[in-house]
Amino acid sequence: MRLVILGAPGAGKGTQAVNLAKTHNVPHISTGDIFRSNIKNGTELGKKAKEYIDKGLLVPDEITIGIVKDRLTEPDCQKGFILDGFPRTIEQAEKLDAMLEEMGVKLDKVLNIHVPDDEIVKRMSGRRVCPKCGASYHTVYKPTAKENVCDNCEANVVQREDDKEEIVRKRLETYHKQTEPLIEYYTKKGNLVTVVGKEKIEDTTNEVIKALGEF
Ligand code: AP5
Ligand code: MG
Repeated sequence: MRLVILGAPGAGKGTQAVNLAKTHNVPHISTGDIFRSNIKNGTELGKKAKEYIDKGLLVPDEITIGIVKDRLTEPDCQKGFILDGFPRTIEQAEKLDAMLEEMGVKLDKVLNIHVPDDEIVKRMSGRRVCPKCGASYHTVYKPTAKENVCDNCEANVVQREDDKEEIVRKRLETYHKQTEPLIEYYTKKGNLVTVVGKEKIEDTTNEVIKALGEF
């Protein structure tokens, strides 16, 4: 499976990507997770990325594209991959096309998860993430089994710094301006499928499985 997942911040890209990566046994590549792990480790890349992430802006293309290129050339991507949160600009999408051509492969599908803005703002306040394994939870929609403890690795789950309401609104604005045009880009290529991210995660998962069909 070679898949891109598009969607506004908090649409549920990460949640669906984790499921699909498990069932299809391919790596889940989230540029947001890569930046956050660099921020946590205090790397130069992390310091640069943080300046943009904290403001709800995109990290510049020249930084982001290089990271994805390096990741896609790792051996585990030969069997496929799920890109979550990349591409996010037309420039990134064009560069991804060039990378895939060089690798001699094509995207099977681009999955667009649509959720209205109001719903997103409501959802984000309840999100909790595991800083160790990246699993994503929600205080109401997907609580951890033990309070505040990750189901997978037992680390304490935390709230993301960019999940404050004013930053979420800025991230949404950035999404509409810079990322939404990709819906048209991939519609023209003919490989876009859209699902509506429903109130219940399992319902969205079922829609995703139906929309993607056989791989
Ligand atoms: P990134 O980490 O990719 O953030 P994002 O796109 O804003 O998306 P999120 O991770 O916040 O949401 P998600 O869609 O994964 O939703 P989730 O599954 O967690 O990027 C962060 C920042 O890094 C960006 O702002 C940017 O600065 C930078 N960056 C990253 N990639 C970049 C790029 N390519 N170029 C430039 N800059 C880049 O779900 C959200 C919550 O809702 C969870 O709590 C979940 O449990 C819950 N939930 C999920 N599905 C449902 C459902 N169906 N019903 C109810 N609740 C649900
Ligand atoms: Mg995510």
